[in-house]
Amino acid sequence: MATARVLFLAIISLIGLQQALVNATFASRMKCTWGYDNCQIGDDTVKLILNKWSGAAIEGFGDFIYGYIDMRIKLVPGNSAAVVTTYYTSSEWKSKDSDNHDEIDFEFLGNVSSDGTDFYYTLHTNIFVNGVGNREEQFRMSWYNPTSDYHNYTIFWNPYMVVWSVDGNAIRVFRNYEDQGIPFPKYKPQKVYTSIWNADDWACQGGAVKTNWTYMPFVANYLNYVENVCPYSGPNSVQVCNDLSNWYFNAQYKQLTADQLKTMNDIRSKYLVYNYCTDTKRFNGNFPPECSKPQY
Ligand SMILES: *[C@@H]1O[C@H](CO)[C@@H](O)[C@H](O)[C@H]1NC(C)=O
Ligand SMILES: *[C@@H]1O[C@H](CO)[C@@H](O)[C@H](O)[C@H]1NC(C)=O
Ligand SMILES: *[C@@H]1O[C@H](CO)[C@@H](O)[C@H](O)[C@H]1NC(C)=O
Repeated sequence: MATARVLFLAIISLIGLQQALVNATFASRMKCTWGYDNCQIGDDTVKLILNKWSGAAIEGFGDFIYGYIDMRIKLVPGNSAAVVTTYYTSSEWKSKDSDNHDEIDFEFLGNVSSDGTDFYYTLHTNIFVNGVGNREEQFRMSWYNPTSDYHNYTIFWNPYMVVWSVDGNAIRVFRNYEDQGIPFPKYKPQKVYTSIWNADDWACQGGAVKTNWTYMPFVANYLNYVENVCPYSGPNSVQVCNDLSNWYFNAQYKQLTADQLKTMNDIRSKYLVYNYCTDTKRFNGNFPPECSKPQY
């Protein structure tokens, strides 16, 4: 593994990619913040463990505005009912009285298998801007097996859009319509986080199915991740990261290509099981304004 990493670093320096691209080792880039006995952080791998006594959470050291994170995750196999694994980026500018934080979420909601396969996770996505979320979309994860091998979950964030991808295929886009009064995350630095916890009060079939501790420990595995972000080192970075010279302002990152869009629409047509923009009952006809705008 160490040799592979040196080789990889040599290759990226040869082709002259910018310094912010880090084939990050977990040990140097992330720290445990909850469940110290249940975080196993190595150079290339992480295990986050949930047992009866605790879950576990780790977070990145560095703040950033824009870029992407590829996280490779192998979810808890077997009966993972009510076990929730999260992977998200979030700003920390929260206070007791006012929550104005930004956040981009992947959450994996475990389940019991009805037919003996592991193809039953729900992939939950959301985005918060200035403390307001309520933008959930959920997918039934049955186009691949998320527990038999590592899969690549990418959070891509630039001034034009936020894109959630699985194995390089976009599954969701949230476009920047700030000029039309719809808030978009642009000014607050975020960090990367991942965690595993017991959410049996709500996560599985609305709370009806509880975590079955017979199957503990529940282990989520992570393999070396990649980040290519604009690092935040102080208020000046807001301007630096919003400067047009950054790679993510290139025309090719303004919008999905026709091929990416086709693949995304194909996945969405088959596996999207919840979309806040079609939840008439919830919004009583008053959908959030982005629901009437194209998202790609
Ligand atoms: C992960 O997906 C991104 C695109 O979303 C791709 O550029 C990258 O090569 C993928 N990495 C791996 C290890 O599959
Ligand atoms: C779990 O599986 C059941 C039965 O297949 C399904 O109704 C439910 O939507 C799944 N997901 C969650 C998060 O409960
Ligand atoms: C937990 O799983 C065990 C082993 O399959 C089973 O015997 C038990 O009934 C399950 N418990 C609950 C509460 O479902």
